[in-house]
Amino acid sequence: MNSTMGKSPTIALNNGVEMPLVGFGVFQIEPKDTTGAVLFAFDAGYRLIDTAAAYHNEREVGQAVAESGLPRSEIFVTTKLWVRDYGYESSLKAFDLCFSKLNLEYVDMVLLHFPIPSDFTNTVGAYKALEKEMKDGRVKAIGVCNFHEKHLEDLIAQTDTVPTVNQVELHPYFSQKKLIQAHQRLGIVTQAWSPLGGVNVYDAATPGKPRFVLEDPIINAIAEKRGKSPAQIVLRWHVQQGISIIPKSAHAERIRQNMDIFNFELISEEMTAIDSLDTGIRAALDPDSITRDTYDIVIEP
Ligand code: A2P
Repeated sequence: MNSTMGKSPTIALNNGVEMPLVGFGVFQIEPKDTTGAVLFAFDAGYRLIDTAAAYHNEREVGQAVAESGLPRSEIFVTTKLWVRDYGYESSLKAFDLCFSKLNLEYVDMVLLHFPIPSDFTNTVGAYKALEKEMKDGRVKAIGVCNFHEKHLEDLIAQTDTVPTVNQVELHPYFSQKKLIQAHQRLGIVTQAWSPLGGVNVYDAATPGKPRFVLEDPIINAIAEKRGKSPAQIVLRWHVQQGISIIPKSAHAERIRQNMDIFNFELISEEMTAIDSLDTGIRAALDPDSITRDTYDIVIEP
């Protein structure tokens, strides 16, 4: 890694596109607050903005890009197709809608938000629609989210494009080592959603879920020793593994702090100590159980 976008190093995707390693996620940010939050993130040195059709704030992300005054080539915008729109034809229409809401010349990356394992034909159809959009030049890179290794292999067998990225739940309590190995074998970049493990707190899908990662004594001991915050230690643990991260925060100081992780290095004992916190238990729903109706989300025009 030797190039940067804003304050983040970039990572080369399997199609040669460079993506910032650290991004700003706008999940759960109200549309009315999104443009301001993204402009603040740009100011703090973020250049990758991660939205989704299902977040209902693509218009406001596009607005921030327009208002930022930054050259388009220095910004990387990701969005995601929603499961109810899967199938080739309906995904083409759904992407049209994303494209008009974002109002950008092109979209840097489009991901499938989940697999639908019980309807994989339409999952593949949606991905083929993204392949067409990439050929037509409206999208630079395509990928997936929340795919198990088996879903990746099935998708790759049925399409022409290896996903550039698989964005998955990943934090010290669910460190996904086996999936990371599969990604390395297949040439896919691992991108962590909920990199700080916030999902353990705000998502009640798993009863008996582990505590908030940022309160973990081992992480706090390393943070104290290094004079860094627990969040900086966790985010550094990700990037040292080559994992792309999209931490989210509603607080200015934390947004800045979460990018300020490139001036120190964890030693291998510290990396191993954090690795040892893995519980093997995800907080969110197992992607194998996702159907088009699991979440009551409809994408409005
Ligand atoms: P807040 O928005 O109040 O700052 P994740 O991205 O892993 O889901 O984590 C998000 C959670 O972590 C949010 O609750 C967010 O709270 C909190 N958070 C984000 N950055 C930091 C930080 N630097 N220090 C402490 N908490 C943070």
